Amino acid sequence: MSTIAFFGATGGCANACLALTLREGYNAVAMARTPSKLITQLLDQPGLTQEILDKHLRIQQGDATNIEDVMKTLILQSPNSTETSVNSNSNPKNFNFHMGETGSNSNIRLVSSIISGIGGTPTMTWTKPNPCEKMSMRIPTLPHIELNNPHITEESTTTLLKALRRIAEKFPSFEDYIAIAPRITVISGTGISSKNGMKDVPLLFRPMYSSLLPEPHADKNRMEKLFTEDLLMKNESVLVGGLIIVRPSFLTGDHKICAVGVDSGYDKLRVGTDENPSGGIGYLIARPLVGEWIFEEVVKGGGEKWVGQGVILTC
Ligand SMILES: NC(=O)c1ccc[n+]([C@@H]2O[C@H](COP(=O)([O-])OP(=O)(O)OC[C@H]3O[C@@H](n4cnc5c(N)ncnc54)[C@H](OP(=O)(O)O)[C@@H]3O)[C@@H](O)[C@H]2O)c1
Repeated sequence: MSTIAFFGATGGCANACLALTLREGYNAVAMARTPSKLITQLLDQPGLTQEILDKHLRIQQGDATNIEDVMKTLILQSPNSTETSVNSNSNPKNFNFHMGETGSNSNIRLVSSIISGIGGTPTMTWTKPNPCEKMSMRIPTLPHIELNNPHITEESTTTLLKALRRIAEKFPSFEDYIAIAPRITVISGTGISSKNGMKDVPLLFRPMYSSLLPEPHADKNRMEKLFTEDLLMKNESVLVGGLIIVRPSFLTGDHKICAVGVDSGYDKLRVGTDENPSGGIGYLIARPLVGEWIFEEVVKGGGEKWVGQGVILTC
């Protein structure tokens, strides 16, 4: 069975996806800055137990801007390491993550798929930094959203690409890496696509997006540019396993998935693509539904159908 890596798994969308992944018996490795926060969130999810976490999850404590931490998350086993993986919730048990047909070459075992919901913490503000650098007092401006780290998705993407490049260099040849390169699914946003600009945002929301979201959008935009630059390297791109960009409309709710047998509203979810946005244009979508779509289409379905696309999700 393949293993899925999660970044930003304490965020609502990725946490919901991880919870479904574990509940359905897949193996996962999740990076968390604060493992206890992730464990608390997962044990809050219906149907998840400590036993399931012990059996199917490895948590890698770390920061998504640290190359070593990212590499430790993605490598399940390397020739120099006798340890396959260690559960960080102080359970000394070691897990053997079977990689099966994907993810293993030259004794290096990699995750088969990477799902990232990394993002900064947003705060609404009515002030901006004073253009005069000597003045520390901020000046009034229109309401907008600022992030605690306005460059987090750019920085974590740079790190991920560098980590994948370093991993690729560990293989005897790039072809060996290509054979097991992980598929990458990242959560971006609407109003960012280089093809569509604001065309994937409903008309009524466009002024709000323009005034509130320049900072988060600039960060996501730089992330997408980094991916595009890597893809332009064609045969040498570390993204050869395929890239899927998920564009949810405005997110609502928390991380909580529905109990087994309870209708999550998944059949109301609408999907468009950058090529054909119309089906996915809408105002809001609940975080757990984004997680459920990624689970159904990428974790369970493999994601082949969506590779190379920006997928717009709304309700
Ligand atoms: N809000 C919206 O309406 C909207 C719309 C479209 C797209 N998006 C984007 O969709 C994505 C998912 O959103 P969400 O609300 O589900 O999640 P979120 O609450 O934005 O979660 C962000 C995640 O990133 C992690 N993170 C941040 N910096 C990190 C670092 N240096 N190292 C490791 N992890 C780090 C956080 O971990 P900690 O728990 O350690 O902080 C958290 O798990 C985000 O990228 C968001 O920007 C948002």
